[in-house]
Amino acid sequence: MNTILSGIQSSGKLHLGNYFGALRQHIQMQEEGDAFYFIANYHSLTSINDGEEIRQNTIDVALDYLALGLDPDKATFFVQSDVPQHAELAWILGTFCPVSLMEKGVAYKDKIQQGLKPNIGLFTYPILQAADILMYDADLVPVGKDQKQNIEICRDLAGKFNHNYGEELLKLPEPHILESVAVVPGIDGQKMSKSYDNTIGIFDEGKTLEKQVMSIQTDSTPLDEPKDPESCNVFALIKLFADEEKQNEIAQKYRDGGYGYGHAKKELLAMIEDYFAEARAKRKELAQDLDTVRDILSEGGKKARARAEKVMEPVREATGLLKSY
Ligand code: TYM
Repeated sequence: MNTILSGIQSSGKLHLGNYFGALRQHIQMQEEGDAFYFIANYHSLTSINDGEEIRQNTIDVALDYLALGLDPDKATFFVQSDVPQHAELAWILGTFCPVSLMEKGVAYKDKIQQGLKPNIGLFTYPILQAADILMYDADLVPVGKDQKQNIEICRDLAGKFNHNYGEELLKLPEPHILESVAVVPGIDGQKMSKSYDNTIGIFDEGKTLEKQVMSIQTDSTPLDEPKDPESCNVFALIKLFADEEKQNEIAQKYRDGGYGYGHAKKELLAMIEDYFAEARAKRKELAQDLDTVRDILSEGGKKARARAEKVMEPVREATGLLKSY
């Protein structure tokens, strides 16, 4: 049975990119293997240094995951900082990581460009991510395309570590990236991302959701004229929700003319509302009982810590950190 592992940062509202690029696969894959999903709150410290905000975001991501179908009886669901072994392994892996490897980090450069302060945590972010993955002997890591380089770095570090100690102590994982949703576009057509301020929230509703959908950027082809669905940001998002038949039907309306971008946006809005209606109701219900959510996380933390020790003990032994010196 494959071990599946992935994480999501607690750094703000989850959006359609997180859902289609990653979370939906997480939920599906809990049926297929031994799954570990966690809230990456150590990672979110690289961009948020406000305790209350981190706490709130952590419980929000937990509610999102559970409302969208994560089943704690099937997957081990926990908060990263409840397993301090992640930080311990990250330190050890860091001693195998050439500075030049981090300097090639695309995500780091991108985040700096977006105005984040270039702290060391942000710079060495992929090392902690490698520790997250290697800690559970993960075979598959379901993520969006923006994480591909981080998984390659993880493999690289595990290989260096194993080579040095002459043993396969750490298992090299494979990324699991679905091509069709590898990069979900935002309302401006760039990759949907909090740092680009172009997101549509999974759990946004009413006027907020409407405003996001109505602000999707389109060209200025007049209503009557035929339009190309494949170059339209609205259609790119419609494709995430509609089955093939519905997609073809809407594509035909684009090509026929007389169908405006406003019409397409209204159809998309209805699709989003409908698609997440059940999850939205479930989230509201769960939010009334946060103690149950906290219990789920704390139970998951307990299981994850026990599992983490299985990798950490031989690692400490090999590195000479165990008390048998
Ligand atoms: P985060 O929280 O930024 O993103 C969570 C997941 O959502 C995916 N994603 C997207 N996929 C397609 N299109 C988009 N527009 C889009 N935006 C976000 C991301 O690829 C990601 O899979 N570093 C990770 C968190 C992490 C992690 C890990 C993941 C920490 N440790 C270990 C896997 C394994 C991240 O940035 O998540």
